[in-house]
Formats: sequence, C-alpha cells, structure tokens
Amino acid sequence: MSHRLEQLRDEALCEIESASDEQALETTRVKYLGRSGSISSWGEQMKTLPKEEKPVIGKLLNEVRNAVTAAIETRNAQFRSQKESGALAKIDISLPGTPHEIGALHPLTQMWERSIEIFRRMGFALADGPDIEDEWHCFDALNTPPEHPARSEQDTFYLPDGRLLRTHTSTVQIRTMESTPPPIRVIAPGAAYRNEEIDATHAAQFHQIEGLYVDENVSVADLKGALEFFVRELFGSDTAVQFRPHFFPFTEPSLEVYVKSKALKGGEQWIEVAGSGIVHPAVFEQVNKARGDKAYDPEKWSGYAFGLGMDRLAMILFDIPDLRLFAQNDLRFLKQFA
Ligand code: PHE
Repeated sequence: MSHRLEQLRDEALCEIESASDEQALETTRVKYLGRSGSISSWGEQMKTLPKEEKPVIGKLLNEVRNAVTAAIETRNAQFRSQKESGALAKIDISLPGTPHEIGALHPLTQMWERSIEIFRRMGFALADGPDIEDEWHCFDALNTPPEHPARSEQDTFYLPDGRLLRTHTSTVQIRTMESTPPPIRVIAPGAAYRNEEIDATHAAQFHQIEGLYVDENVSVADLKGALEFFVRELFGSDTAVQFRPHFFPFTEPSLEVYVKSKALKGGEQWIEVAGSGIVHPAVFEQVNKARGDKAYDPEKWSGYAFGLGMDRLAMILFDIPDLRLFAQNDLRFLKQFA
C-alpha cells in the first residue's frame, strides 16, 4: 500500500488538473502547500517519527512537495497563455486602421522646389551661406558704400556685436567666389531680412533665389536668355518678359525683371520679379583681395547675377492676395495647396 504522503500527492495532482481557473488553483495550493496545508503539516509530524524512518519520509516529503509545486506552476502557465490568446482573438485584423492625414508642402516650399528644378536643368548647382552675416559680405564686398541707405539702422536688423541679418542673398555670391575659382554657375535659395513696415506685400523676412554665373564673355544676352527661360518654364510659354534699367551697386548695367502673362491673375499687368545685372568689376576686385590672388581677374572673367523674389513669385503663381498668409500657419489656407 502506498504511503499517506503519496496518496496526498495523487489527490493534489488530480485537483490541480481539474482546477477550472486561477482562483480554484490557488485554493488547491493553499489546501496542500499552505502553512497548515495537509502536505506542509508533515513537516511537523516528522519530529514525532522514529529516528530510522526520518530520512525515508523526509526524502518522500521533498519529492511530493516538488511534484505538487511543479504541477501548480505548469497549470498556472496554461491559464496565462489561454488568457493571452483569448485577448488576441478579440482583435479583428480585418478592421481598417487609423487613417493618418497626409500633409502638403508649404506653397513657398513648392515654389522653391519648382524653381530649383528649372535652374538645375540649366546646369546651376546649389550654394549656401549664413543668415547672420558680417557687414563686409552683405555690403562692402558688394560695392555698397557705408553711406548707402540699405545699411542704415532703420532698415536693417543689427546684432549687438555688429553683425546683421542679411538683407539679400547676394552675400552668397561673395562666399561662393571666395571659396571657388571661376567658372561658377550657382543658385542660392534662402531667407533675407529687412526692417519693413509689415503689410500685404511687405514682410520683415522674405525669400530669394540668388543666381551667379561667372565665365568668359558672359553678356546681358546670357542673363536675359536664362531668366526668360526660367519664367516661361514657371508661368507658361506665353509669358512676356521685360527688362528695365535700374541701379544696384554690385551690378553694371543693372536690370529689373518684369513679367506679364494671361495665365496669371491681373493678366495685363507687369509684375516685378527680380533684380539682376552684370557683375561689377569692383566686386571681383573685393573677392580677389579676400582670396589673396587674382582668380577673378575682371579682364578675363565676366558674370551675371540675379535675385528672384520667391514670395512674390508664389503670390502670383498661386494667386495669393496677402504675403502674411505664408507665415500664419492657418490650415484653411495651407490645405488649398495639397
Ligand atoms: N540683391 C538685390 C536685392 O535684394 C537683387 C539683385 C541680385 C540684384 C543680384 C542684382 C544682382 O534687391
């Protein structure tokens, strides 16, 4: 006949196997292995056993305790995995997911991307320069004397250390020539800053694409060809282009660029889109001084430069009435360009 401990073990294993849930299993555990459980109490009874029986029963008690503990652990694991797969079964994988709203590029960014793509086709590379500049790159190197109104405290944002927010992207002309010998064919998209009275057509921060082409025998004809190609790619082949004489200290001659197109709002009106001109020899001389060589010899090299107003271009292309809309982050406005 088997020992009472073995009977207890078999009963316990039976009950564990048939426990219907975690709670029932816990009740069974307490009944056999709890402090005053029927298996545990054998620990006390051991003391009353004859000396020679102690090792045999002690060993049996250990085996029984281990077997029951292991069975409880196994049954518990079964309950846990049942619970997990039950939770999984409740997920309906055929349901549609949570939709993400697809955003759109800002109209100015779109304008930039279209413009850069057109100039890239003409062989222009991208150049870059800092928004915070020194006066030399912004003015002196561009043949703009200290008394020029563009340099006045009223028109320009100066930092306490004398540097300033660049008033045009023409600074990148200088930086590019300082670091790279001719020939050069670059565009530099970026922000520029002026202390403007803000209204529908003026902002303190605006955006330009600067262009610089330096090679041998560059003429006004090259400049006109490039800019005409650009605006016709952008606004359509029926776009009329007009060049009007102007003055910039760093170009000679200087030309303002106007466009007119039936495709554009205001159809019959000439709209100014850029300043441009043939690079002034004095600019090359300043660059040579900074470089410490004669790389930009004005007798050998000539070039054209232009600065396109991106905000203006975007306003006429997308028929936007007020410049301030670009910076207000109003989704009702931005969603129209998705
Ligand atoms: N920098 C001029 C401006 O911001 C534009 C310009 C660029 C004119 C290059 C001539 C050549 O008004």
